[in-house]
Amino acid sequence: MRIAMIGGGYVGLVSGACFATLGATVVIVEADQHRFNALRDGRLPIYEPGLAELVSAHRAAGRLRVVNAINEAVDGVDAVFLAVGTPSRRGDGHADLSYVFDAVEQLAGVLRGPTILVTKSTVPVGTGARIATMMASLRPDLAIEVASNPEFLREGSAIEDFMNPDRVVIGTNGPRAQAHLGALYQPLTAQGVRTLFTDLETAELIKYASNSFLALKISFINEMADLCEKLGADVTQLACGMGLDHRIGPKFLRAGPGFGGSCFPKDTQALARIAQDAGAPTRLVETVVAVNETRKAAMTGRIISACGGSVRGRRIAVLGLTFKPDTDDMRDAPAIGIIHRLVDEGAIITAYDPMGMDHARFQLPARVNFCPTARTALNGVDAAVFVTEWAEFRTIDPDALRETMRGRVVVDLRNIFDPATMATAGIIYHGIGRKLCAATNRSDQPSQRLPVEQVYARSLSII
Ligand code: UDX
Repeated sequence: MRIAMIGGGYVGLVSGACFATLGATVVIVEADQHRFNALRDGRLPIYEPGLAELVSAHRAAGRLRVVNAINEAVDGVDAVFLAVGTPSRRGDGHADLSYVFDAVEQLAGVLRGPTILVTKSTVPVGTGARIATMMASLRPDLAIEVASNPEFLREGSAIEDFMNPDRVVIGTNGPRAQAHLGALYQPLTAQGVRTLFTDLETAELIKYASNSFLALKISFINEMADLCEKLGADVTQLACGMGLDHRIGPKFLRAGPGFGGSCFPKDTQALARIAQDAGAPTRLVETVVAVNETRKAAMTGRIISACGGSVRGRRIAVLGLTFKPDTDDMRDAPAIGIIHRLVDEGAIITAYDPMGMDHARFQLPARVNFCPTARTALNGVDAAVFVTEWAEFRTIDPDALRETMRGRVVVDLRNIFDPATMATAGIIYHGIGRKLCAATNRSDQPSQRLPVEQVYARSLSII
């Protein structure tokens, strides 16, 4: 099967490369010259584990091509996937569909035979029907069918999510689209993956409803974390106890600083707007949007109070800048708001992230001192704040951490560390939704500050 993928961003690249793995011949269209040049030269404009290798293997085998104009991609294709951006429209939270409709207009100018147009981008309910109407009026001579095939890819594990999905959702307005897309996913169906065929509107809504439900789960556990702090309970055990109930399930119950990323914030807002416009407001989803915004803003207050009520002139290390680990994506990352406000409050910030520093530089105040390693960011600071749970942070030895810092305050917004172990190391540890353990007071002991290189040689811990 031959397919064109309009958009060489995150969704387009992952889906294009994975469709090639499933046996299709794929042409990706990237109109942005800068991104196209990077792709042409074999560089990926995004970081996703395993993707660079997959793209390069398929290009070498002739299964995947990248071009920068739609007319170079559509000759003889069975289906065209739309994987262009649908950002939140400024001001009203609606998804901005201008890239989608631009692409449809261009396609109308160049398509020569019957084709299936498939939305991969997350689009408001009714978009597929609008595309069908547009094509029928622009190209009444062509038999165009429209489909919605939403992606459920998590950044950091997108290839695994694509190749081993919980389900494939295909919404169509005609039998040809259903047959072709069913055939495209046949290698997955053959392995037992359930494919759900629906109408266009239901497929479009499944994407928003799924993301909003997961976001709701996160906001629920975040509120439970606040309650745990008041009641002296532990949110990690609470989540475990809830998650063991199969009807609830253990996933998306990790309390933290609030959800970020390219999907949850945008999709919850869009669903709330779609529902308002349809006259069936989703009050739960509206509340999730509000609860999450409040939560992200509240995190700085937490840090300030952990630092004794003021951060003016205090040196603070912020570790983990991306919205979650294993990505370089800074979109709606909680770290952005936290760092801006800490700087406004007079803190001196050192920052480190394993993958996200290049993007972070553009979103954070110029005064932030970006450090090449966690160790250098932590050296001599009064307090350390962990905002993203990168695997390398889990290996940090608490004694080494204590020795490297000048102060003793650690604010762990992802519950990376064990509170009791941190307390034993003399750290004043603040997790999320967990009991405070009294830190061992080591101030009466002779200074334990070792030269930093010695500490790290001893612990082999942070890097
Ligand atoms: C999400 C959906 O999971 C995916 O199906 C969809 O298609 C795109 O959006 P992604 O944004 O890559 O994927 O990340 P995800 O792992 O879902 O996390 C989103 C946010 O929620 C992150 O900020 C993460 O830190 C936060 N989160 C997630 C929590 O705070 N707690 C959790 O238990 C899970």
